[in-house]
Amino acid sequence: MKTRITELLNIEHPIIQGGMHYVGFAELAAAVSNAGGLGIITGLTQKTPADLANEIARCHDMTDKPFGVNVTFLPTVNAPDYPAIIKTIIQGGVKIVETAGNNPSQVLPHLQDAGIKVVHKCTSVRHALKAQSIGCDAASVDGFECGGHPGEDDVPNMILLPRAADELEIPFVASGGQADGRSLVASLAMGADGMNMGTRFIATKEAPVHENVKQAIVNATELETRLVMRPLRNTERVMNNAAVESLLEKEKRLGDQLKFEDIIDEVAGVYPRIMMEGDMDAGAWSCGMVAGLINDIPTVQELIDRIMAEAESIIETRLGGMLGTAA
Ligand SMILES: Cc1cc2nc3c(=O)[nH]c(=O)nc-3n(C[C@H](O)[C@H](O)[C@H](O)COP(=O)(O)O)c2cc1C
Repeated sequence: MKTRITELLNIEHPIIQGGMHYVGFAELAAAVSNAGGLGIITGLTQKTPADLANEIARCHDMTDKPFGVNVTFLPTVNAPDYPAIIKTIIQGGVKIVETAGNNPSQVLPHLQDAGIKVVHKCTSVRHALKAQSIGCDAASVDGFECGGHPGEDDVPNMILLPRAADELEIPFVASGGQADGRSLVASLAMGADGMNMGTRFIATKEAPVHENVKQAIVNATELETRLVMRPLRNTERVMNNAAVESLLEKEKRLGDQLKFEDIIDEVAGVYPRIMMEGDMDAGAWSCGMVAGLINDIPTVQELIDRIMAEAESIIETRLGGMLGTAA
């Protein structure tokens, strides 16, 4: 399948694996890229720029295909050394960067001067337009159903994607709630040039996370995510668990008085315990409503092949049949 995104990023299939904290290691990124999609290493999961350089080198050892690095600009207690991270990405010969959080105007010229394409992930049309106006090459438009940070506007993809298509000139992918060939065709129909998946890629054989995490996603229905940190305007969609219930109870009790320090036990530094040790109640971890559509743990190659076969069959047979043009 050829779209503006496959052309821009030089990939075979219009499928991106979004950056994921403590999930986006070289193993997953390389598996996605080898299967014809775009795999992405999560920059901030690496503790130092030297560690990131090592992760990028490991990924080059595992794939000759293009892969990317995610750089997330979020409110954190101690800001990471972004200039060193950008330098490491450039020196590592990475061709694509996925930015998220604040817009990447500070780093954009450095990346683009080095021939790197920048895909900015954002949760509203106005932020996507801002990304376009500062010169980003593409956008990843993340709807309300997404795992992670959906922003504060709560617009789901059935509305957000056609709105983005009406306004944007740069290519964009649909992000949030994407799982299969149906998602891909629907996203293309709404004007996107491909799709970005997070949660679906965690439940794959190559995702370097504890089996408990994969099983939790397979077991969950679409009803089991919760929104946390809304009072702090840092809303995150997470899988419900004991820590999340305690966090929500504090939010209810403290109301407008809630401060980050009140919930630090449930959110700060919990990812290694969840993703690596499989301690599923250790804290809040991002997960999309799409968990309800995930029922197995295939290899990344099987997943991507299945998505593409299903998408082609829907377009040619199901939709073609409705028009009387079925192959
Ligand atoms: C466990 C997990 C961790 C994530 N961490 C990040 C991150 O560090 N930076 C980022 O930009 N997005 C992050 N995301 C968001 C994903 O890149 C992607 O936008 C989102 O998962 C799409 O929604 P979906 O889960 O419904 O596919 C994370 C998502 C998950 C599920």
